[in-house]
Amino acid sequence: MMNKKSVLVSGGAGYIGSHTAVELIAAGYDVVVADNLSNSDMSGIEGVRAITGVDVPFINVDCCDKQAFAQVFEQYDFDSVIHFAAFKAVGESVADPMKYYCNNLLSFINVIDLMREYGRHNIVFSSSATVYGEAEELPVTEATERKPATSAYGNTKQMCEDILRDATAAYPEIKGIALRYFNPIGAHPSALIGELPRGVPQNLVPYITQTAAGVRECLSIFGDDYPTEDGSCLRDYIDIVDLAKAHVAAINRMVEGKNQCGYEIFNVGTGRAVSVFELVKTFERVNNLKLNYKVAPRRAGDVVAVWADTTLANKELGWRAERSLEQTLQSAWEWEKRVRNIE
Ligand code: UD1
Repeated sequence: MMNKKSVLVSGGAGYIGSHTAVELIAAGYDVVVADNLSNSDMSGIEGVRAITGVDVPFINVDCCDKQAFAQVFEQYDFDSVIHFAAFKAVGESVADPMKYYCNNLLSFINVIDLMREYGRHNIVFSSSATVYGEAEELPVTEATERKPATSAYGNTKQMCEDILRDATAAYPEIKGIALRYFNPIGAHPSALIGELPRGVPQNLVPYITQTAAGVRECLSIFGDDYPTEDGSCLRDYIDIVDLAKAHVAAINRMVEGKNQCGYEIFNVGTGRAVSVFELVKTFERVNNLKLNYKVAPRRAGDVVAVWADTTLANKELGWRAERSLEQTLQSAWEWEKRVRNIE
């Protein structure tokens, strides 16, 4: 018998994976982490262990190496998988698409194949609001049509959603939920885990915190001439702990057999649109500091605005975002300070 209260977290050493491991353990699940540390290190695992007091098993394995990955299924009796292990840099994926297709597709195919071979039942896939592209109607619901992807990264998200849809339709013993993340930000309140990008951050909040810490000289705000109130882009910034809890809700739903069909999709956001300027100003205010920033040209590929209609997740998952933007931006700064030994 498989253990319904045990979850394999692939990519569990990373930013979203580590926070999710913590919330799973808090909810009474056993967690096994598999990660090849290609974009993370052991500090994520150590942070999870320190926060939870649980000696979480960690296996250093590449999910693309099916034989090696199969050993994890041999050794542990988890009935559910949350698959985070993937590359996620949009620009890099345009420059080197095959790197993204090979890694993101093959690892996901292996997960599903191994679930079938070893009789495991539930899977959560990390999808993204990127699948909506520049949507005609806002906020976007799960029924809003997907737009053709503009990067290989975005395309792997769409393709994996489709693989999951087809697999769950053909193999009814497998249930799947795709969570479409909006913009995850912030860190655990303990500041023991958080986002630690390698090299120059591509995303807004790590760039802000590194600028505040003096690691970067000046934040560039990409565009102030968009058709929005203050001219900067609008996004739905979701607190990382809230996002982690959405995964627990998704696993609970499948473990309890409450999912209405084999494959479901949920938006995971706050439902609130925040501009880049508003985010920067809120960061300055709640952390009582001044940020060095300038307006720069638009960044290629950015959409003007996207934020979530979260009605479905609120109702079906019984989940909603709870932490305020203020709390979240404080946690982001606390984490950066800890990483940089500030104060
Ligand atoms: C990006 C990806 C998205 C991916 C997500 C993963 C693009 C177009 N989209 O989302 O597909 O799922 O990351 O984390 O790359 N900004 C600045 N200055 C900066 C950095 C960002 O002004 O130094 C602005 C951007 O123009 C955007 C907003 O901040 O308006 C958020 O940017 P970012 O954090 O990179 O997230 P997305 O682009 O929304």
